[in-house]
Amino acid sequence: MGGLCVSISALNHDALFLTVDWADAPPSRHALIWLRDHDPMGFHPETGERVFDLLSVPEEPHLVDSSVVEDGQAVTLTWEDGHVTRFDSDFLRKQFLEKGRRAAAPIVPESWDGRFGERLPRHDHDAIMQDDRALLAWLEDITCLGLTVVENTPPVVGSLETLCRRIAHLRETNFGTVFEVFSKPNPTNQAYTADALPLHTDQSNQETPPGFQFLHTLRNEAEGGVSIFADGIRMAEDLRDRNPDAYRLLRDVKIPSRYFDDDWDIRFSRPVLAEDARGEPVEVNWNRHLTDVFDMDPEESIAYYRAYRAFLALTYDPHYRFELKSRPGDVFAFNNRRTLHGRTKFDPNTGARHLRGCYVDWTDMMGRIRVLQNRHGKA
Ligand SMILES: [Fe+2]
Repeated sequence: MGGLCVSISALNHDALFLTVDWADAPPSRHALIWLRDHDPMGFHPETGERVFDLLSVPEEPHLVDSSVVEDGQAVTLTWEDGHVTRFDSDFLRKQFLEKGRRAAAPIVPESWDGRFGERLPRHDHDAIMQDDRALLAWLEDITCLGLTVVENTPPVVGSLETLCRRIAHLRETNFGTVFEVFSKPNPTNQAYTADALPLHTDQSNQETPPGFQFLHTLRNEAEGGVSIFADGIRMAEDLRDRNPDAYRLLRDVKIPSRYFDDDWDIRFSRPVLAEDARGEPVEVNWNRHLTDVFDMDPEESIAYYRAYRAFLALTYDPHYRFELKSRPGDVFAFNNRRTLHGRTKFDPNTGARHLRGCYVDWTDMMGRIRVLQNRHGKA
């Protein structure tokens, strides 16, 4: 709503609230303590950070006058201690329009089923590297749809990091800043075998699983090793429609995940599903390999297992998934807390298969999108 010339027609206040009458919309109500705490003079003029001492004013600050000024484009509030606050009408308008959603993602997700494979968005490496608008278009697609391919990323070590640092710094984990995906002796993780990998999200054992994952194919000559993707949001939406009790259990009951090797024992418990401020499912953290010992009551576990198996069955359902053999130079870029990924098994004796992966955190990606949108508008 930034930049809108919205006009205020009248103001009223009582002991706790200011009521704003708008020329073109229903009235909005603002708590006086909120208004005092958001006085523009309470923010540092250069850093923009809040420096106001909230305890320097009473819990119920008393307003002695409120006036509409500048043809309805601003208001002035005079407080009991003589301080005068001025607000742009745009600022007050935004407060009630964005209620509860200010920190939300700047893009609402769209869910998909397995037919999405036919219209998978493809972006070009060189365009992203050279043009901020191409970068923004890519990031908007990842955020909205949860999966894209970047083509023509040089299939050499280092180009994945350079591409992803266009977005932000990389999220380091116990697997390093970049992890290698190929079969190796004495594997500590299923990704280091040649086995099939069922659909999953990464690092459900972390307090904050990485928001976005990037998988770069350097070589993919082995027989098998076909990538599989499915949209966890669509599965959650369908489960909510068909089996609301199961949906609620997966949303509300925390289950434990764990990764361990000689150096690490990393554990966290969370529900499989999470909703946003709209009450819509936006997150799925699903990793059977990392699921630890269920520690719920035996009685509770009966109902929970029904729900858990119902979701597992959706991950096996061909309706939701599609398969794609990546080529050298392809980067799969996806929302790691939404888009489930996996692969078919491969035969390492038939040729090389080498992928490299890294992560970027959710809030860093959203931050880059906001900055680019402010600069260029939506792509
Ligand atoms: Fe994975």
